[in-house]
Amino acid sequence: MQITYYGHSCFEIIVNNKKLLFDPFISGNPLAKNIDIKKVNPDYILISHGHIDHIADAIEIAQQSKATVIANWEIIEWLNKNGVENTHPMNTGGKWMFDFGKVKCVSAVHSSSLPDGSYGGTAMGFIIESHEANFYYSGDTALTYDMKLIGEFRTLDFAFLCLGDNFTMSVDNAIIAADFIKCRKIIGMHYDTFGYIKIDHEEAINKFSNQGKELTLMEIGEVRNY
Ligand code: NI
Ligand code: MN
Repeated sequence: MQITYYGHSCFEIIVNNKKLLFDPFISGNPLAKNIDIKKVNPDYILISHGHIDHIADAIEIAQQSKATVIANWEIIEWLNKNGVENTHPMNTGGKWMFDFGKVKCVSAVHSSSLPDGSYGGTAMGFIIESHEANFYYSGDTALTYDMKLIGEFRTLDFAFLCLGDNFTMSVDNAIIAADFIKCRKIIGMHYDTFGYIKIDHEEAINKFSNQGKELTLMEIGEVRNY
């Protein structure tokens, strides 16, 4: 399984030879100015909620790649209205078997509205289960006791957790979340992009390792194999 980081909460993960792009926000992120979105060509785009820092490049990348977009009903309706045809609507609690593996939509405690102000439905996280690996992508969320359900009923190899604080979980909350989901390998997201969410990398990594956990903070543009 190969992971590429495009900044903020945007990752491309190759699962069973399919490229899954999560929460495309690249062109509006000054930290990701070296990433050329014309070269981002996923097979699937998964969107956790409607906020601009998760959906900004979704229409353009969906149109150039013809990727199938997976998101909640309201986001899919909005994308359809904006010329994106290849879509698969889901909602919290639901699962579907795709050709790369299974997607389960789980709750996220966060708001969701679309860039034009229209209703964005409910924010979600995703669990991806495949022959290669199982992982959780939290989206934007508070620490929530619902995460215990993930730990009780799924076995995860790694997880993407938001941890920049102010809008989402903090580093300390993400460590508790890692306990709830029973996963010690965490990849951080939703930090540094704006002033409100700057984190001290060394301190965050040390806090995780003091609890017997591994936090990875990828460089933008970096590719890793898991
Ligand atoms: Ni958000
Ligand atoms: Mn966000």
